[in-house]
Amino acid sequence: MIIAVDGPTASGKGTIAKALAAHYGLPFLDTGLLYRAVGFQVLQNDGDPDNPLDACKACDFPEAVLDDVSLRSEAVGGLASRVSVHPEVRAALNKRQVDFAHQPGGALLDGRDIGTVIAPDADAKLFVTADAVIRAERRHAEMIGRGEAMSFESILADIRARDERDIGRTNAPLKPAADALLLDTGDLTIGGAVQAAIALVEAKLHRS
Ligand code: DC
Repeated sequence: MIIAVDGPTASGKGTIAKALAAHYGLPFLDTGLLYRAVGFQVLQNDGDPDNPLDACKACDFPEAVLDDVSLRSEAVGGLASRVSVHPEVRAALNKRQVDFAHQPGGALLDGRDIGTVIAPDADAKLFVTADAVIRAERRHAEMIGRGEAMSFESILADIRARDERDIGRTNAPLKPAADALLLDTGDLTIGGAVQAAIALVEAKLHRS
């Protein structure tokens, strides 16, 4: 069984994806981490994330980069969004994701284009979303909890810029697949969102 979870940043898709993977006992791949590794590697190479050649060269990042904690930072998230617009970068990361999705027994992947490009054949596709202001409030609270200083306004501006780039790119833009199940987490607690996600997937699996 393949489950695809897509959605914008800070929508709760990562938490929901991990909980669903545990619930169904599926191997899990956070595909955003691959783009983050490319963004991080561009910096290590003193390259320009907006230059397709530099971004492409960074696709050969060492595997150990995937474990670097700085990959989770807002700054690297922004770089990931910038390198991800280059079709060459998407092509370089494609096989790894397609192979992971189609391994025996199936898998769960989260990202932006899992239901549309990486696994259009997924058994269930969730598109997790929430209003940008709510997502910025969550990210702000998370950062305060980690002792990182960043104003609410600049987080909201970053989220809006990232949404615009991810939705607006020509190649594999962020959008729900035609058969995706939509989940707005705006009014939900984490537990409530996970319960709602499991209920949506269960209903879809029983229909098929
Ligand atoms: O999910 P995330 O915040 O870690 O993703 C970081 C960026 O990587 C995101 O803004 C766009 C890009 N990305 C993508 O283009 N396609 C994916 N499947 C996953 C992430």
